[in-house]
Amino acid sequence: MWTFLCVATIIALFFFYYLVGTRHKKINKIPGPKGIFIVGHGFDFLMTPESVFYYFRYLANKYRDMFELKLGNLRFLILMHPMHVENLINSTEHNDKGYLYAFLRPWLRDGLLLSSGKKWHQRRKILTPAFHFKILCHFNTVLVEKSLKLVENLQSEVNCSKTNIYSFISDFTLNSICETAMGTVLDEESSTVSKSYKTAIHDLGTHLLYRSSRVWLHPDSFFNLSQVGKAQKRTLDFITSFRDCVVEQRRQNGNFKDLYTKTMDEGDDEYFVNGKKRLAMLDILLNAEQQGIMDSEGINEEVDTFMFEGHDTTATALQFAFMLLANHPDDQDKIVEECSQLLGSSNQRPTLNDLSKMKYLEACIKESLRLYPPVHFVERKSNKPLKLRNVELTSHTKFTIMIFDLHRRADQFIEPLEFRPERFLKEPTWHPFAYLPFSAGKRNCIGQKFAMMEMKLAISAVLSKYRLLPVTRPQDIIFTVDIILRTKDPIFVKFEKR
Ligand code: HEM
Ligand SMILES: *[C@@H]1O[C@H](CO)[C@@H](O)[C@H](O)[C@H]1NC(C)=O
Ligand SMILES: *[C@@H]1O[C@H](CO)[C@@H](O)[C@H](O)[C@H]1NC(C)=O
Ligand SMILES: *[C@@H]1O[C@H](CO)[C@@H](O)[C@H](O)[C@H]1NC(C)=O
Repeated sequence: MWTFLCVATIIALFFFYYLVGTRHKKINKIPGPKGIFIVGHGFDFLMTPESVFYYFRYLANKYRDMFELKLGNLRFLILMHPMHVENLINSTEHNDKGYLYAFLRPWLRDGLLLSSGKKWHQRRKILTPAFHFKILCHFNTVLVEKSLKLVENLQSEVNCSKTNIYSFISDFTLNSICETAMGTVLDEESSTVSKSYKTAIHDLGTHLLYRSSRVWLHPDSFFNLSQVGKAQKRTLDFITSFRDCVVEQRRQNGNFKDLYTKTMDEGDDEYFVNGKKRLAMLDILLNAEQQGIMDSEGINEEVDTFMFEGHDTTATALQFAFMLLANHPDDQDKIVEECSQLLGSSNQRPTLNDLSKMKYLEACIKESLRLYPPVHFVERKSNKPLKLRNVELTSHTKFTIMIFDLHRRADQFIEPLEFRPERFLKEPTWHPFAYLPFSAGKRNCIGQKFAMMEMKLAISAVLSKYRLLPVTRPQDIIFTVDIILRTKDPIFVKFEKR
């Protein structure tokens, strides 16, 4: 087996070398591990996915600010210094996405996450109103319901010796995004088709992980021939047909008509509701279609993009936040105290306004995102020459911003490895580009307010009913390499009635 894998890797790397070829000029004067001719650092990654993760941490610690990696003739510049990161992402120039994103392309195509240039600009303009305060107020109603459902589902776990929280949480975030983005209810009562949709979205994530950690599956032609490649094709076909069905139904029901006259002029939540139908992000897209600024393929791309970006990231963030809170009972108590002061003991449903006053909870979430950023790196490709630290870089340089290492820099954060939510209650002492859970600049996360709202609702609802006790300790965690920050073993906590 290993012989086969090695041979396949060598073939894949030669493939890179000749096809991706000689269009890059050497990046000079930048430190980095010495690679082998042609293969570069390709062999370095023939280790377990956990070792790959820690190999990157070793390199980040050794080189501190930036280093260069070679894979065949591909060169990656890895950035970990806030100033360099600022130069790159706080400009309007270098906004194209990088190498690994190509694996998402068959699914997300030209959706907001992957598109570039004019197309991205136009889409971003159309979609920004979907996260306007008034629209978020409306989604709040849906998310409150989903968080109460999460609390109910956790009932069965009370006093169990340990609970793997991920499946509960990802169910919550997937149901939440399906209902807010597409207007489709995917709870356990719903049909088998929608359950299969949920499984399919989950499977795509698994395929992505499988592929990204196997370098010989990186070229499309190899991947398409592999078992996983074929499975992914079947999954994508199913997702496409389900999504087409939902979009068509929504187009027929006409909920999107006259959206803006109602939402922008009147400013009353009631106006988002037509009869029993609730507003979905999809309505905003359909409205843009009606105005002729978006076509049906564009709608499909954006729905798929929201489904991908909107559930796994938030689920991962919540998973780590619950683990940290289980290990910090005092912070749990402070959150519960804050919530009951705001909402009263009667368990009144929090409004967006209430959420904005939950400052301690917010600090805990931010600190959790610092220690465990779900999107732990982002990639860019420069489309103009760029100067970083006396080094002139040609256009088409591939950059990776290591958010994980940025967040743990000792020159930016006092006691960087400790959970200290209070640091977010004071004026920041760190560089504005040292803390980037949602990235920054023009291509920052469009859903960050939505995500904060969802996380606040889930945590406040769960803590008001249950006390979390530690099972997994932060020091037990072994990370493994993936597009989203993941652990080798599941994360467990214990639930007790409060
Ligand atoms: C805790 C949860 C989340 C985290 C940590 C997160 C993080 C990020 C980051 C780091 C980026 C930049 C990616 C890059 O530069 O390649 C991004 C982009 C994006 N996120 Fe999020 N995100 C979260 C939740 C969400 C949610 C809930 C939605 C949708 C409802 C969403 C939609 C998007 C979209 C569409 C983009 C692409 C924006 C663009 O390129 O214009 N995200 N997110
Ligand atoms: C990012 O760039 C904008 C203008 O392009 C500037 O106003 C802003 O201050 C910059 N942000 C930081 C944190 O430097
Ligand atoms: C769970 O355990 C606690 C303390 O060990 C006990 O007081 C409580 O009655 C138990 N609850 C249930 C639902 O079994
Ligand atoms: C691989 O499959 C995808 C669709 O699943 C297709 O878009 C792409 O063109 C294929 N690439 C090659 C090189 O066969």
